[in-house]
Amino acid sequence: MTRPSNDSFLRALLKEPTAYTPVWLMRQAGRYLPEYCETRKRAGSFLQLCKNPALACEVTLQPLARYDLDAAILFSDILTIPDAMGLGLYFTDGEGPRFERPLREEWAIRDLTAPDPWDHLRYVMDAVAEIRRALHNSVPLIGFSGSPYTLACYMVEGASSSDYRCIKGMLYERPDLLHRILSVTADAVTAYLNAQIESGAQAVMIFDSWGGSLSAAAYEEFSLQYMQRIVGNLLRERGGERVPSIVFTKGGGLWLEAIADIGCDAVGLDWTIDIGEARRRVGDRVALQGNIDPAVLFASPEKVAAEARRVLESYGAGQNTGHVFNLGHGISQFTPPENVTALVEAVHAHSVLLRTRSE
Ligand code: CP3
Repeated sequence: MTRPSNDSFLRALLKEPTAYTPVWLMRQAGRYLPEYCETRKRAGSFLQLCKNPALACEVTLQPLARYDLDAAILFSDILTIPDAMGLGLYFTDGEGPRFERPLREEWAIRDLTAPDPWDHLRYVMDAVAEIRRALHNSVPLIGFSGSPYTLACYMVEGASSSDYRCIKGMLYERPDLLHRILSVTADAVTAYLNAQIESGAQAVMIFDSWGGSLSAAAYEEFSLQYMQRIVGNLLRERGGERVPSIVFTKGGGLWLEAIADIGCDAVGLDWTIDIGEARRRVGDRVALQGNIDPAVLFASPEKVAAEARRVLESYGAGQNTGHVFNLGHGISQFTPPENVTALVEAVHAHSVLLRTRSE
């Protein structure tokens, strides 16, 4: 297996030097792109788009055709695992994801089992393989999953939530039941990510979107511990190449040192923390991914470029390794597509300039 012709993303994650700072964007294939909306319409729905490998491949490639991005990310969703567990996922317009059968009853929690990724999630593996073929080894492909805690939030609440009433009630009242859900889900995530790696994913990312809503003590016990178990059981190599892992807890800035210690190669940062400070705190244990505020993309291209430069400069000396530029969270559907051009160009141009300055 050879590395892609543009391997700057993998190199940065592995803390090898790069000629410029690589960049990709969370949710880079999405509703802010008219071509995405067109393909989604053809698929019939978001879920049908995820479950059709040819169309999932098509939308994965759309942002790469427009922008000079340094990585592709599998087009899918974190909720494919609970869907394969039989919870009945559906999406309602404007309200996001919902489950027909949220996990609330003790008997249902005892009955929960990890799905075989090669069976119930085969469509994801087929999409990974098809995307790898279509990329012709140009840039690396990122596979992903939700964290057990984040998946459990949706599984127990049955939908997005503003207060996490059901899952936090369970966490404090029946921690044994929540641990059972998290344990089965951690096994499911491990098998799922390893199957993605075997299908061709060259790096993997765990999205812990709701871990940041936990108390410090609960974060360690109910989110971090399970991510550590997953990371420890991931395939570290495929075809002689390292497959780096990224862990992203939104709102995890307070616990960076602990996250950096779980064995992952990189830590994703949201926009609330200064990336230079994050770097001082984690040292050279991990690479960092992030962390411009996605709302910057509502400003003019000039302001977008200035904020991109600010993040690159905050990262500090030794720019030539360990930083993957990204947003601090997913791109908004209301982002003007031309502002993404300004962002990507600014990251590439300014990071080259900073390298020549520090020589
Ligand atoms: O980054 C990428 O381009 C890969 C694709 C991707 C999607 N979802 C596509 C998507 C990834 C990595 C995700 C992860 C995901 N999904 C997360 C973790 C990241 C985060 O944002 O915190 C979460 C919490 C979900 C669950 C989910 N899926 C929600 C809450 C929603 C509704 C959000 C909304 O904006 O309406 C989705 C739907 C979804 N997933 C869309 C996309 C492009 C929009 C669906 C559409 O086309 O209507």
